[in-house]
Amino acid sequence: MASWKFIAVSTVCLLVFLSGNISGLDNGLVLTPPMGWLAWERFRCNTDCKNDPENCISDRLFRTMTDILVTEGYTAAGYEYINVDDCWLERERDERGRLVPDRERFPYGMKSLADYVHSKGLKFGIYEDYGNFTCAGYPGVVGHLSGDATTFASWGVDYVKLDGCYALPTDMDYGYPEFGRQLNLTGRQMVYSCSWPVYQIYAGLQPNFSSIIEHCNLWRNFDDIQDSWASVESIIDYYGNHQDVIVPNAGPGHWNDPDMLIVGNFGLSYEQSKTQFALWAILAAPLLMSVDLRTIRPEYKAILQNRKIIEVDQDPLGIQGRRIYKHRGIEIWSRPILPIQQGQFYSYAVAFVNRRTDGTPSDVAVTLRELGLSNPTGYRVEDLYEDVDYGVLSPQTKIKVKVNPSGSVVILRADAQPGYAFNAITTRTPYTPLNDVFRLTKK
Ligand code: GLA
Repeated sequence: MASWKFIAVSTVCLLVFLSGNISGLDNGLVLTPPMGWLAWERFRCNTDCKNDPENCISDRLFRTMTDILVTEGYTAAGYEYINVDDCWLERERDERGRLVPDRERFPYGMKSLADYVHSKGLKFGIYEDYGNFTCAGYPGVVGHLSGDATTFASWGVDYVKLDGCYALPTDMDYGYPEFGRQLNLTGRQMVYSCSWPVYQIYAGLQPNFSSIIEHCNLWRNFDDIQDSWASVESIIDYYGNHQDVIVPNAGPGHWNDPDMLIVGNFGLSYEQSKTQFALWAILAAPLLMSVDLRTIRPEYKAILQNRKIIEVDQDPLGIQGRRIYKHRGIEIWSRPILPIQQGQFYSYAVAFVNRRTDGTPSDVAVTLRELGLSNPTGYRVEDLYEDVDYGVLSPQTKIKVKVNPSGSVVILRADAQPGYAFNAITTRTPYTPLNDVFRLTKK
């Protein structure tokens, strides 16, 4: 049987990353991808507060998560939105046609909840749907665009996710911009999260991405995430396989949304959780945790609060990364980030992913130049999970990383250096414990 323990990556294409000059929804919001907590993936449409008061979609759940975001270090790490998803509404509008939050589960109303979130220094998001109904069957906004936008503004909403169930995908080219216009007319700045492209893609239509970029701050391209590695893999594959269309659309204020983080739930191993977080950062994705923050284990919390990876996600250039290599279960993903040297040499975050299941770690060996890192004055390289610094490496340096199987990741950051004397570097990195898997070769 062939042994793939050592997989030398010999040819990795030099990439031309499109930084583009696409300008997005001009509301000045989310110039880096939004970060926060969103109820849906973990708490779904649990409306049974009698039997399950701790977990039902209710005022109490969102206040609790607000508190934990602040007290457990999530806000300090950058998470700022508390977002309600579906199932917060009464089944009927009131006699004046206004949306009504469920009277039992949100007894103080949404303004009170938004005020509470704001009182903790956070921002408040809400969910609606462009069609006749939300996906779970509650009233949609169609026919009430202006009134509902006004209602949201009056409650102090900072972020609106507008879903697309029970709507005609062909109407969305008009409907999504129109609701965005109504949000703007309120005078309150609200992040606008759209599901416009995904429903059109499902319907076999080609989304008009220039219009989507112009009218939305973020948008979903693909399926809902579920609590499994298979679901995460399907999203990774979709983004990789369609990257030529998807990647150029991202930029400050306008982001592709591969859906929520499921780190800390039931479906992912520890290694797979690290991979989801690392790849979402490479994808410049919104970091919307959907997890029970009351019971999350410390090692998963540490993933979600990994500052170095958050910094990659929040890189001000806002260039979405790409899959640059895929062969026999090994993938390499790369994202250009700051700093840029001499106006042309980007720094990069590089993620090595092993999706093989043959039980033993795989070594991936590649020179920085093969990864597209050609700054003649080199790169300072560090591992973002292992917290080790490999020193400054030249483009011809071959790096070798050991990546565990079954969906594990090694993520590095390579900061392009200004002038640096390479004479100082001989055959090994100053770092010792991992030298057996990460060797410098002589120039
Ligand atoms: C759709 C969306 C999900 C979630 C549900 C709520 O499926 O894609 O993210 O909002 O609706 O019903």
